[in-house]
Amino acid sequence: MTPANTATPVATPTRQQDPSLDALWMPFTANRAFKAKPRLLIAAQDMHYRADDGRLVLDGAAGLWCVNAGHCRASIAEAIAKSARTLDYAPSFQMGHPASFALANALVEILPNGIDHVFFSNSGSEAVDSALKIALAYHRANGEPERTRFVGRARGYHGVGFGGITVGGIENNRKAFAAQLLPQVDHLPHTHDLARNAFVQGQPWKGAELADDLERIVAERGAGTIAAVIVEPVAGSTGVLVPPVGYLERLRAICDRHGILLIFDEVITGFGRLGAPFAAQHFGVTPDMMTLAKGITNGAVPLGAACVQGRIYDTVVNATERGIEFFHGYTYSGHPLAAAAGLATLELYATEGLFARAASLAPTWEEALHSLKDAPYVIDIRNLGLVGGIELEPRPDAPGARGFDAFVDAFATEDAMIRVTADILALSPPLIISEAQIEELVGKVRRVLERLK
Ligand SMILES: Cc1ncc(COP(=O)(O)O)c(C=O)c1O
Repeated sequence: MTPANTATPVATPTRQQDPSLDALWMPFTANRAFKAKPRLLIAAQDMHYRADDGRLVLDGAAGLWCVNAGHCRASIAEAIAKSARTLDYAPSFQMGHPASFALANALVEILPNGIDHVFFSNSGSEAVDSALKIALAYHRANGEPERTRFVGRARGYHGVGFGGITVGGIENNRKAFAAQLLPQVDHLPHTHDLARNAFVQGQPWKGAELADDLERIVAERGAGTIAAVIVEPVAGSTGVLVPPVGYLERLRAICDRHGILLIFDEVITGFGRLGAPFAAQHFGVTPDMMTLAKGITNGAVPLGAACVQGRIYDTVVNATERGIEFFHGYTYSGHPLAAAAGLATLELYATEGLFARAASLAPTWEEALHSLKDAPYVIDIRNLGLVGGIELEPRPDAPGARGFDAFVDAFATEDAMIRVTADILALSPPLIISEAQIEELVGKVRRVLERLK
């Protein structure tokens, strides 16, 4: 278990003439403010980025929760290059190539028992849409076509497809499109409870009963109308909400009672983030389906997956006598470069024992994060595995501004990249982080907090 952290220095490419920033419409970005004061990354290695002004920047966010093995790992880069030279592309409809089958098999090896079929997409958003469609297809094939409703959760993030924003619960992502969201979706309450759980380390003890709201929805809508419930086991993008002890177990039990499929969106929690391959194993709760992306290729090539229990695959596939059984798929489903990157990534996770490494670092991580309790404006700290959320008191007149200032200052002054959602700082470093780098990261965050206004 010796990850190659800092073994290779981050390259300093010669700064190229800066391109004009005008033509690119940046996603989830304040375009005008960014273009007035850009933050550009030009290289990366292991725990660090290189900014375009030459600074080495500590990556406290694993890119965007995806670079779990650290940046620019040689074996992944080589696998991608080799595939680009030997099989650049293969059609995914009615044709195949060995690497996508091999990756599905390798995933099944680490997925929870029973989740043994994999449908590839190119992103988490597409994985979610695929999973929702599979749920509908399953119930139709299973003789219950009236099960068409979905249940999501307030503050949930499931990507940006119309399916994902409808079951998701992030209001800003929905409001411009509210008139066209999917019909027939209900939401469970979120589990954030500052009054009862502030500064709890790991899983909060209070709040399992919030899962019982599913019974209310079942009573109101009728169990036979609900296809699936989708939740992130730990809500990430909304600012790290760790599920209360017993909560996921209750959701599982209620779904079982009423024949409802349970989908865990593990786009963030997968691939060792919590110290186990997936959150499902960490919590000991097995869903019927899981959605994956991000760490599946260490962020190196876009790839997503909807993974399902065998009975779901069998029911859908066996319901059709001949021909295509499921009218859904992507030109790049299981793309050769993505499959090659995925295989090399899983190999790296295994050879370096990175999931176990995350588990063994978790207590140090927890202690370091919670040492920020006395820092200015901190009203809550949450953690699990190698993920952490630091919630700041919002400015009364400008919610979100203080958090964003912290993000900008961390990059500009402390040479650290962190994530921010409104006034919550989210930290999720690559799993190769050392104990010294945990201290360094938390020290940087403390200095940022001390400068905040
Ligand atoms: C839980 C979850 N689901 C889905 C997505 C969407 O993934 P993508 O951005 O790859 O579409 C994300 C992205 O952060 C996520 O965190």
